[in-house]
Amino acid sequence: MDIKKVGVIGCGTMGGGIVQTCAQSGYEVRVLEVTEPLLAKGLASIDRILANNVKKGKITIQGKQDIQNRINGTLDINSFSDCDIVIEAATEKLDVKKRIFAALDKICPPNTILATNTSCLSIIDMAIVTGRPDKVLGLHFMNPVPVMALLEIIRTILTGEETLNVGRAFGLSLGKTIVETKDEPGFIANRLLMPFILNSIRMLENGFASRDDIDKSIKLGLNHPLGPLALADIIGLDTVYFIVSALYDELKDPQYASPTMLKKMVAANWLGRKSGKGFYEYEKMV
Ligand SMILES: NC(=O)c1ccc[n+]([C@@H]2O[C@H](COP(=O)([O-])OP(=O)(O)OC[C@H]3O[C@@H](n4cnc5c(N)ncnc54)[C@H](O)[C@@H]3O)[C@@H](O)[C@H]2O)c1
Repeated sequence: MDIKKVGVIGCGTMGGGIVQTCAQSGYEVRVLEVTEPLLAKGLASIDRILANNVKKGKITIQGKQDIQNRINGTLDINSFSDCDIVIEAATEKLDVKKRIFAALDKICPPNTILATNTSCLSIIDMAIVTGRPDKVLGLHFMNPVPVMALLEIIRTILTGEETLNVGRAFGLSLGKTIVETKDEPGFIANRLLMPFILNSIRMLENGFASRDDIDKSIKLGLNHPLGPLALADIIGLDTVYFIVSALYDELKDPQYASPTMLKKMVAANWLGRKSGKGFYEYEKMV
């Protein structure tokens, strides 16, 4: 199957990055948002990133224009009827995602592949609301999508071999390196990363070591670009809390149980970079 038109649901942090990456790779992309201001905000963010790339000499002004000409924003899900693949990158709520998959199943031709970028929700639960569960898979991009090389491809017990082959070819065409995993909570990266972040928070909470020494140990001792606490601030502490709670609910494994400190910080709206304060302080993002 030859993919020409890509649909993306949601133009937030991840959807915007997926839209940009697909358009940069030559695909026609249609992106859906829930309101005009959110769509305008998402497209403006792509415009800012591309303008920055022009400034840095990574692309030309014409190149930027060509990329943007391939992007088409919409508020009407019915316009996804000509997409060969649709990647859902909406809010991480199972009921929202199930509604989107059910709607897409009615609108898209039977051979359209439906993918989700979920971080931790069960993909089979989305697949079974459609009449084409063999055409549903996970394409889990990393943040920021245009920069990060990894793409996790997730197969449910109902995903077809042909769907996986198309997913692999599509991921490679975006310049991504692919790893494959089953529809297991957290897939590979988050399943391994979350206990690491939670243990760092527990270490801080117990007064075992200071914030800076924890992050310094990992940066300088293990050559990670960021320490785990700084990384948690970037991911968003609410997102970390949401992911670990979902993993704990599913696995009942105490290594995914949230430390009290994380819970309290989220309650206080200390969400990391996006709120101006997490383990570190930041200038508030607008
Ligand atoms: N942020 C990350 O680091 C990261 C990394 C990998 C995967 N993910 C996953 O990607 C998905 C999106 O996360 P995000 O960080 O971009 O969230 P976000 O809040 O930045 O963006 C989600 C967007 O989806 C839109 N949306 C919600 N319902 C919609 C609908 N019915 N139709 C169209 N648009 C709709 C919202 O208006 C919002 O703009 C989630 O499933 C998340 O778990 C996030």
